[in-house]
Amino acid sequence: MALKNPSDSPQGHTRRPRYPGRNPRGFHERYKELNPEKYHADVEKILASGKTPAGTHRPIMVAEVLRCLQPSAGEVAVDCTLGGGGHARAILERVQPGGRLLGLDVDPLELPRTEARLRAAGFGPETFVAHHMNFAGLPQVLATEGVAAADLILADLGVSSMQLDNPDRGFSYKHFGQLDMRMNPSRGEPASRLLARVSEDKLAALLDENADEPHADLIARLLKQGPVETTHEVDRLVRNGLTAAFPSLATPEMKMSVRRTLQALRIAVNDEFSALDALLRSLPQCLAPGGRVAILTFHSGEDRRVKKAFQAGYRADVYADVAGEVIRATMEENRANRRASSAKLRWAVRATD
Ligand SMILES: C[S@@+](CC[C@H](N)C(=O)[O-])C[C@H]1O[C@@H](n2cnc3c(N)ncnc32)[C@H](O)[C@@H]1O
Repeated sequence: MALKNPSDSPQGHTRRPRYPGRNPRGFHERYKELNPEKYHADVEKILASGKTPAGTHRPIMVAEVLRCLQPSAGEVAVDCTLGGGGHARAILERVQPGGRLLGLDVDPLELPRTEARLRAAGFGPETFVAHHMNFAGLPQVLATEGVAAADLILADLGVSSMQLDNPDRGFSYKHFGQLDMRMNPSRGEPASRLLARVSEDKLAALLDENADEPHADLIARLLKQGPVETTHEVDRLVRNGLTAAFPSLATPEMKMSVRRTLQALRIAVNDEFSALDALLRSLPQCLAPGGRVAILTFHSGEDRRVKKAFQAGYRADVYADVAGEVIRATMEENRANRRASSAKLRWAVRATD
């Protein structure tokens, strides 16, 4: 049996995993990439080649996020989506001395690893606190920490590369795995169960609403033909069904439909829009006068919500200023990290009275 992570060994030491061929292919075989602290040089080589090491999340648009949030010494920051802690670390460095960062994440598997990494980087409990919490509960976290309101708040929505890359989490068609997709595997139902439960009509509506899928009706019919238990079954059913219905459909278009299908299921399984709506409602009370918020979204359903909430807040004088246009990643970042190309960044500044 492959160990998930060599450091999971009870003795703290394992043999080098054996894999066929010269290079590891499976996620659990990539033990060097999964241990960047130990195999720093190998990981640097992978990064320099423009690839993202397995189990690593590259923070997106860091410079642009910092420009919107303007963190400075002594301030209280919140990272609503701690993930691998890339943005958090950049903010933590700028709120010193005297500042703090509260990091939230729903994922109980990655959160302790990120917390350990940030501790190892020198951020003690007086500067960094991690909360296993949905950002819908941000007001509770602030109350628990005795913070009346934060100076800056970041939300970088969606899932991290660590979650996507891990076949055990069942997020991506690129890896064979049980179709789970829960960011918090101890709550809610796996995507396979949701698929078995919802009606065809509801599924079509969900594909349309959560991912603007143009073939929503057909894909809903395909996915309701029998039990769908794995990521590869979704991939196969959608591709075969689309090929039969539209023989001239190009492969990239089909891949996009598979991706959108999985995205729509993920959003439903994790009730992502409800959490985002709750966060947007609570932001005005959670931000100090003059406080800044930045939100990175990855598809139109998210961006629409953020844009509407910021503009409504601006009209109501809750926000003194909001982003007129979305900010996008540079060409250079898009080349180095494909995930950046769909990112949209919006910001708002809380009014002072
Ligand atoms: C795109 S990643 C964030 C990456 C992070 N900015 C970094 O630099 O590594 C999104 C993270 O947000 C978490 N997440 C998504 N929705 C959440 C929610 N409603 N509440 C708390 N965490 C959430 C996911 O579990 C994931 O770890």
